[in-house]
Amino acid sequence: MAQGTSIDDLMARMTLAEKIGQLNLLSAGEGPETGSPRSRDIRARLAEGRLGALFGTKSVRSVRAWQELAVAGSRHGIPLLFAEDVIHGHRTIFPLPIALASSWDMALVEATARVAAAEAAAEGIRQVYAPMVDIARDARWGRIAESPGEDPFLAARYAEAMVRGLQGADLRAPDAVAACLKHFVAYGAAAGGRDYDNASLAPAELIGVYAEPFRAGVAAGAASVMAAFNAVNGQPMHAHRKLIDGWLRGTCGFEGLVVADYTGIHELMAHGIGDRETVAALALVAGVDIDMMGEDYLACLDRIAAEGLVRPDVGIEIDPAQVVEAIDRSCRRVLEMKERVGLFDDPFRYCDEARAARLTLAPAHRDLARRAAAACCVLLKNAGGVLPLAPGARVALIGRLADDRANMLGTWAVSGDPAEAATILEGLRETHDGEVRHAVGANLVDDPEIAARLDVFGPIVRLDPRQEREMTAEALALATDSDVVVLVAGEAKEHSGESASRTELDIPAPQRRLLEALAGAGKPVVLVVLAGRPLVLAREAGLADALVLGWFGGTEGGRGLADVLTGRAEPGGRLAVSLPARTGQVPLHHGAETTGRPWTGRFEKFRTGYLDLPDDVPPAGGLYPFGFGLGYTDFELDAPRVTPTRPTGGDRYVTVTVAVRNTGAQRGATVVQLYVTDPVARCVRPSRELKGFERVTLDPGEAREVAFTLGREDLAYLVGETIGTLERVWDPGTFVIHVGLNARDLRSVEIAWTP
Ligand code: BGC
Repeated sequence: MAQGTSIDDLMARMTLAEKIGQLNLLSAGEGPETGSPRSRDIRARLAEGRLGALFGTKSVRSVRAWQELAVAGSRHGIPLLFAEDVIHGHRTIFPLPIALASSWDMALVEATARVAAAEAAAEGIRQVYAPMVDIARDARWGRIAESPGEDPFLAARYAEAMVRGLQGADLRAPDAVAACLKHFVAYGAAAGGRDYDNASLAPAELIGVYAEPFRAGVAAGAASVMAAFNAVNGQPMHAHRKLIDGWLRGTCGFEGLVVADYTGIHELMAHGIGDRETVAALALVAGVDIDMMGEDYLACLDRIAAEGLVRPDVGIEIDPAQVVEAIDRSCRRVLEMKERVGLFDDPFRYCDEARAARLTLAPAHRDLARRAAAACCVLLKNAGGVLPLAPGARVALIGRLADDRANMLGTWAVSGDPAEAATILEGLRETHDGEVRHAVGANLVDDPEIAARLDVFGPIVRLDPRQEREMTAEALALATDSDVVVLVAGEAKEHSGESASRTELDIPAPQRRLLEALAGAGKPVVLVVLAGRPLVLAREAGLADALVLGWFGGTEGGRGLADVLTGRAEPGGRLAVSLPARTGQVPLHHGAETTGRPWTGRFEKFRTGYLDLPDDVPPAGGLYPFGFGLGYTDFELDAPRVTPTRPTGGDRYVTVTVAVRNTGAQRGATVVQLYVTDPVARCVRPSRELKGFERVTLDPGEAREVAFTLGREDLAYLVGETIGTLERVWDPGTFVIHVGLNARDLRSVEIAWTP
């Protein structure tokens, strides 16, 4: 578009076919992909003016070449919008989102997103398919790795921080990209934790929990949203007009672009809601602006725009004018997005090879990644202070994952280079002033079929041909000849991620057997778990002296973990997801609704509702609670104080104050968490809701007052039979205010807030 031309002028010159072309999004296919491409004919599409956006490029050169074709080779010279999955870093890979959320440090989350945006923007990318803000309460679901966890309040803060970090203050800036909140909505509520499965949710839970991070992300200015693959309450999300056009655009005021997921429109046919024309029309009218990879808009909209569509069998009657109007509206949104991200000013401004070379994996980016990796590690157990490792200690570092680059980045780091990743062995050798020797000890998995599936995007399992006996003996000999064992065990990176749901949440069997053997070696054992999801670690927690959940830490994961093991950094993480004691406990989250039963009665059997769960495992809370994590010092909290003590209808908020004291011997940080219970309400409420948190760093002996403002609005909640009739209400009366360093160990005070 020439300078000075408006979108109105441009649209006035475009044919309907060209407008439909702007709604078409294809992949350049230069990286890994998750679906079956229906078209790869990018050149032909560009020549016809039938392509609006492209993702999956892997270099500035490629972006420039496609952009040249788009600008010079088409009638109106409309630039392409380049997009990419930038989930936890672009070239410098940061810890997994579930790990980043576990830092509870939103300044850190924002900083990682700033770096990711700068690296991506320098390569010509103008939109990223992130942040993924799906609430995930079922650890079987593989995409929990990409999510900010189980809690809507924490996830909403994560969504805001990510949007701020990615988009910055000015979307046209050379280090900013448009964010895309995904996957709208309730993708994480898939039945049985099976990826792609549908969700059935009461309207209040759907909007109050699953849509809450989207509301927050939209309020923070997110420029785009991606629809989810699943159906919600019987309606597939790519055709969910009530939720997309109604709630997202209507109630939330979202004015940006809605993108389909990979062949998400095409897959509406498999959902069983009609033929290709029907699903194309339904998606368009629902408000999905861009069709990713399915080319259903391209194939069908011209005809539907000319003739309309009547399908009595699925109850649709759309007249041509309605379709033309919807095409115009979506095309305008695509063009507005291109304008917002600066493409009409200069389509090549963002293809800056020198800048890309300077920024890619820049030392400052790596430093941040290292700091982030330590800040996300969750220390779950530290008996006898075995961590940090004593200086000079001779370390037996055991496990395939300890000397591994291929898995370190974690799932869906599509532009990350595993060759750039530091291994834990390298990190520990650089950081620890004592001998560090390594043995493999066991294969990651022992089932060749699973190994083949895990290798989907390249070899990551590397099965050792030796007998397990031989590997165990080697590891035991090393352990016996060392002062301390550090065993790194867990998942391969592709155990989690898309289409990687699991029915068992254990560390794979050969590595479990290895831990059993090492626990008998008479040396202290530190177990470092790498995983993309909450695993069941009950037995492991009993066997190991120290337990660290390191997730997948990214490019500098090996060094960040070494910093934690040696005490150069504190383990900063606090669980963003509850860890189950048994697989059968999931789905699990800290705020389960109150129930009438089970109760403490005469018969043991009725106590937890579970027949086979030991009494010491809280049935609704898991093995380690949400918000839990240790550091290298200790903290104490006083009971909370609330002012005014007797709030009335005239008070809009109360202040909750709590004193926190470092009672340990070294400087350290903790996260003070504020929860609220509404014990008497007009309907069943969550047992507890997170309403605030603050990270505090204190010297030994130092105390500080942390103050939270709790508004009456924060105590309100949604009630209603349908999405359209939801109302926010609050119930005056008793509220219980809790503070704690996790969701289970709380100091509480009751207040009465009169009308
Ligand atoms: C995923 C999206 C992703 C897209 C493009 C899909 O399979 O669900 O999250 O953005 O592929 O890679």
